[in-house]
Amino acid sequence: MAEETYSPATTEWYYPPDEVVENAHVPDYEAVYKEAMQDIEGFWAKRAETLDWYEKWDQVLDRSQAPFYKWFVGGKTNITLNALDRHVQTWRKNKLALIWEGEPGDKKTFSYWRLWQETNKFANVLRGMGVKKGDRVTIYMGRVPELVIAMLACAKIGAIHSVVYGGFSEQALADRIEDAQSRVLVTCDGAWLRGDIVRLKDTVDEAVRRSPVVETVIVVKRTGHEVNMEHGRDYWYHDLMSLPIATPVCETQVMNAEDPLFILYTSGTTGKPKGVLHTHGGYQVYTATTLQWVFDIKDEDRWWCAADPGWITGHSYIVYAPLILGATGFMYEGAPTYPYPNRWWKMIEEYGITILYTAPTAIRGLMRFGDAWPNRHDLSSLRLLGSVGEPINPEAWRWYYKVIGKERCPIMDTWWQTETGGFMITPLPSVPLKPGSATRPFPGIEVDVVDEEGNSCGPNEDGKLVIKQPWPSMLRTVYGDPDRYVSQYWSEYKKQGWYLAGDSARKDEDGYIWVIGRIDDVLKVSGYRLGTAEVESGLVSHPKVAEAAVIGVPDELKGNIIYAYCILAAGLEGSDALVDELKNHVRHEVGPIAVPARIEFVDKLPKTRSGKIMRRVLKARALGQPEGDLSTLES
Ligand code: PRX
Repeated sequence: MAEETYSPATTEWYYPPDEVVENAHVPDYEAVYKEAMQDIEGFWAKRAETLDWYEKWDQVLDRSQAPFYKWFVGGKTNITLNALDRHVQTWRKNKLALIWEGEPGDKKTFSYWRLWQETNKFANVLRGMGVKKGDRVTIYMGRVPELVIAMLACAKIGAIHSVVYGGFSEQALADRIEDAQSRVLVTCDGAWLRGDIVRLKDTVDEAVRRSPVVETVIVVKRTGHEVNMEHGRDYWYHDLMSLPIATPVCETQVMNAEDPLFILYTSGTTGKPKGVLHTHGGYQVYTATTLQWVFDIKDEDRWWCAADPGWITGHSYIVYAPLILGATGFMYEGAPTYPYPNRWWKMIEEYGITILYTAPTAIRGLMRFGDAWPNRHDLSSLRLLGSVGEPINPEAWRWYYKVIGKERCPIMDTWWQTETGGFMITPLPSVPLKPGSATRPFPGIEVDVVDEEGNSCGPNEDGKLVIKQPWPSMLRTVYGDPDRYVSQYWSEYKKQGWYLAGDSARKDEDGYIWVIGRIDDVLKVSGYRLGTAEVESGLVSHPKVAEAAVIGVPDELKGNIIYAYCILAAGLEGSDALVDELKNHVRHEVGPIAVPARIEFVDKLPKTRSGKIMRRVLKARALGQPEGDLSTLES
């Protein structure tokens, strides 16, 4: 939750049951952490050796052009070699890779063999359309298996996928298409959500009108409603998949370890989203290792990461890492409370889910329906739980632990970011827990909480969270904007060469990290990351708005909600009707997650003399708190 409700370090400890520790992949965190830190490169090399490579690397880490680090230099691989190709050579080919349930209740399963074939078929379709290594393909879909197949197919032929979350609207999609210069886009006619159809194809039509770089649109039929299909541009997925070109065998493109795998846009301090770039080699090593050790993935597990594949959590821990480990994953299309608030618990019972990984906002959302809903179901298959996206408030933690995990299942509270590619600060199953703390860094990761000068903060002192050593799945750059990569992440502690995470945190007496929240103009709303600037530019793109400022205000359910302050164009007066009009406008321009909970019309915004909006003053006003030092305020 946000700063104001943040709970300080606690002495409340939860110890893992002995059998969890004894059976875990890593029963002794301390020992492994210590060993890893003595030789970080050797540690990662050993992990990389557990995967397949066409050719082994010559150098584990090249620091010569820091902060443009390179990992496993000279290595040749492809993430799909590890996620699919190698499994179909073994008994795993008949193991379930993916179990999927649609919101209306329809079901699909994919063995490794079938997923491999479907991926090959679609990879051949893409190749047939002229998609080559290094080309960008934008994917804008609901939570359906074809999304996973499309990502894997791109990776297989060396194309770079850019998945845009299906909750984003026309302009957000158009901006991302434009930035990536994607000529091919894969989408669905629609997606099911709360019993309604989200009309994805309509959004695509408008986005492509705004960003006409797209030449081909491939449409998966999911909801079956009438959609516009533009002749010569739009093709049905099922038609393409039945063409002779869609054969079930496709040669995997041999990639350099450092070749790009995907771009994923995320919010930063300016309105323009950043294209975070990840690569094949280091990313596969890091995501597979972290998933195996933190969630202790075993062959008999049924792993459910309930995120959307359109976010980094889904990329790393629905798609790539579980497949690399040969695990069985579960994916659900729709809303957690549809048609009733027991939907998730019912599916855990039905599919025998053993590990559930979700976000605090989802936990709080389900908690408010009370214990009776989960208590109607047998949840005894669960053995581990997980949390991600924002600090989990201890109350939600305890509910999750008691009511869902029946006090048997340790909760892995994983702190990480789109940029980090995988878990950075997280317990392993053997680590004693404190509700609300992501605990300790993963082996091989050196983090600290420091002051402005870079001195380590004392116990329980607020500071900035930094990462002191490079790691294999670190972002390599901001797509098309290397300067921004350097200035955003590496300039604050340039002398020391540390990565600035953009979060404030505290470290307690036991070395446990407590993440407080963002220090920049980034908001976390229901666990989704949004820049204040994105919402503001959505607002000012309305002709009646002259200027806008947006802040996050703590909310029990969503972590934060958005308050917006708007100055209207000269001569205009605010009204309830205009509030609705503006909310609708933001819904269209940015997406439903960006819609302000409250819009206030003002004549003036508090600004510094250099013209920067002082959001801290707005926030204090909204919360009825003292406004602090106003000496730099514009008069
Ligand atoms: O502020 C931290 C918060 O989410 C940010 C990263 O957001 P995003 O790139 O969208 O990735 C989210 C999923 C990995 C971080 O800078 N955050 C993420 N996980 C946690 C968290 N804050 C506290 N505890 C966490 N477990």
